[in-house]
Amino acid sequence: MDEDGSLTDVVRSALHESRSQTGSLAGRLERAAAGRGRRRAMAVNSMAPVPLSDEDVPLVTVSEPMASLDDLVLTAHTLTALREILNEQRQVSRLAAYGLRPRTKLLLAGPSGTGKTRTAEALAYALGIPLVRVRLSAVVSSYLGQTARHLERILEYAENGRWVLSFDEIDMFAGEREDSDHGEMRRVSTVLLQQLEDYRSDNLVIATTNHGTSLDSAMWRRFDEVLAYRNPTQSQIAELLEIKLRKFTCKLNKEQTARALSGFSHAEIEAVCLDVMRKSVLAGVKVISTADMVDSAASRKKRYKEAGKSQG
Ligand SMILES: Nc1ncnc2c1ncn2[C@@H]1O[C@H](COP(=O)(O)OP(=O)(O)OP(=O)(O)O)[C@@H](O)[C@H]1O
Ligand SMILES: [Mg+2]
Repeated sequence: MDEDGSLTDVVRSALHESRSQTGSLAGRLERAAAGRGRRRAMAVNSMAPVPLSDEDVPLVTVSEPMASLDDLVLTAHTLTALREILNEQRQVSRLAAYGLRPRTKLLLAGPSGTGKTRTAEALAYALGIPLVRVRLSAVVSSYLGQTARHLERILEYAENGRWVLSFDEIDMFAGEREDSDHGEMRRVSTVLLQQLEDYRSDNLVIATTNHGTSLDSAMWRRFDEVLAYRNPTQSQIAELLEIKLRKFTCKLNKEQTARALSGFSHAEIEAVCLDVMRKSVLAGVKVISTADMVDSAASRKKRYKEAGKSQG
């Protein structure tokens, strides 16, 4: 069976599971993939049961990616790098014939809501394989040995199948931590570095961080590619509006709207668009105007400020 087929299998199996169990889709996928159900999920593709923590909690979530790269607004540089990486993934054997391997370990660094997690999903989507997300809450334990063991299990698992492994908030483990209070975390970080170093699979491992500058240099060196994510520029905001408002008729002064949204992340702009779309539907208004966008942006900015968020 091809990769698409196996992906469908996981989801089908998870849904099958859900008839007899309650819980979120993610939970169902985990249970299905964990092989606890009557059917064995992802029988092909060297599917192993998902790794469990010492407390028997799944250390990863397996999901079917739904987002495409086309829905993301990124810099030309980042898009080019991502397309090259996809090309390498699609031609692994061609590279291998010359003793070469694709780039596999990516670090995406930048502020919240700029598309890092979504990029991991889009890469999995483009390759037609599942996205395996590390569940930090299950991985981190108050015992160093346990955390290290969990990390080991995840990377071992990641080598045995075809998927994209996404590792959000890697700075949790790998920040520059000089003080002795964080000695434990430094040791976990050392384990993670070693694990990344030893990782020999051609599968993509995508780590993300909001604090690129606080990662120590040893961590940076372990990645084949580091991509910087930023809040959108004025022209990127205009591009984002095209995508997020595409189902609606808009009469927008692009420059004015983009100015009103400047300093927002992509995710925040999406939130403003959703505010406006909801309002317009409920008010029975057919056309979204510049004033709608500017007012909504201002009211969100105010709410963020009141909540103590500093606007970048
Ligand atoms: N560059 C982008 N282009 C289009 N939409 C985006 C972009 N970045 C974020 N979004 C929208 O915002 C949502 C949240 O983005 P995402 O989870 O990828 O952010 P993140 O960078 O991982 O943030 P965090 O650092 O908080 O985890 C996405 O699901 C998407 O709908
Ligand atoms: Mg994220």
